[in-house]
Amino acid sequence: MTEVLRSAITGVGAYLPPDVVTNEALSKIVDTTDEWITERTGIRRRHRAADDQAVSDLAVEAARKALEAAGKTPADVDLIVVATTTADLTFPATAAIVQRKLGCPVGIAFDVQAVCSGFVYALTVADGFVARGNSQCCLVIGAETMTRLMDWTDRGTCVLFGDGAGAVVLEPVAGQGANTDKGLISFALRCDGTKQDLLYVDGGPSTTGTVGKLRMAGNQVFKHAVINISESIEAALEKAGLTIADVDWFIPHQANQRILHGVANRLGLDENKVIQTVADHANTSAASIPLAFSAAVDDGRIKPGDLLLMEAMGGGLTWGACLVRL
Ligand code: ACO
Repeated sequence: MTEVLRSAITGVGAYLPPDVVTNEALSKIVDTTDEWITERTGIRRRHRAADDQAVSDLAVEAARKALEAAGKTPADVDLIVVATTTADLTFPATAAIVQRKLGCPVGIAFDVQAVCSGFVYALTVADGFVARGNSQCCLVIGAETMTRLMDWTDRGTCVLFGDGAGAVVLEPVAGQGANTDKGLISFALRCDGTKQDLLYVDGGPSTTGTVGKLRMAGNQVFKHAVINISESIEAALEKAGLTIADVDWFIPHQANQRILHGVANRLGLDENKVIQTVADHANTSAASIPLAFSAAVDDGRIKPGDLLLMEAMGGGLTWGACLVRL
């Protein structure tokens, strides 16, 4: 039988900056309440990076933990893909800065920009290298300092986001191409650029020359979320020849508890299989899936051999889902 190479996740790690901001603390700076935020979103607190912490610093911490979990060192890394929407600098790529800070050898390093869908996009991009034998040890990192993009006078957005980073190590593993083999099995990615105005940042290097602030028509994004996410999940499952009943753990992008419930209900997924960290992390954009993943590996829920379903939706609008056998 022909051997099939897959990108297997061999280590997971995460980092949250120590400063925790509660809903109560936010109610002192904008017209909001703990009750409103908790009821509408499920968020209770979020982490905020210190003024002297760049997004690459968060990424490096998460990457070190993922490498340790995989039994690897920075010297082994030949590819770094960072999913971020809050880069240290306009250029170089944050991945290049992470490579330098970790002390990895010269290799491939670049960023992927798909906002909250960034981690799912980055995993599938990295798979293009690893599953073709062009990388032996790859870091895929989702890292964000979303609090830097907030308009702190806009209560409709500033209460929703937080900072953090999560990382995985990908290595090529040979198998028979079966659904029981380790690695990334299938994915479905989408972008509908006509919905840009629903969620965007109002600045950039080639328009305003400023960083800008996040703008969101939250209730309209919400309306698209459950339908879009469910469609991409069904497409990824169909490609793999699997059903929702085969999924051991659902690791969704953590934007809003109500979206997580809505998707689980629509797909008939057992709520006990949904990894939920939105209460403690808020929306950390590209970092939220690997942060949730790492939490559930650390507490022993997710184990080798489990089938993982990851999904996200964010600015673009972008969305997507992927299936991974751990
Ligand atoms: N505190 C108190 N009241 C508030 C707050 C707040 N923090 N924010 C908004 N409100 C008010 C509004 O002003 C409005 O008041 P009005 O009726 O007097 O005008 C009322 O609450 C209802 O506002 P809505 O925006 O309709 O509230 P909704 O129930 O839709 O919840 C939310 C808002 C939480 C943003 C929700 O729409 C949501 O989660 N949307 C999806 C977000 C998402 O998934 N984003 C994608 C990823 S993010 C990325 O890619 C970067």
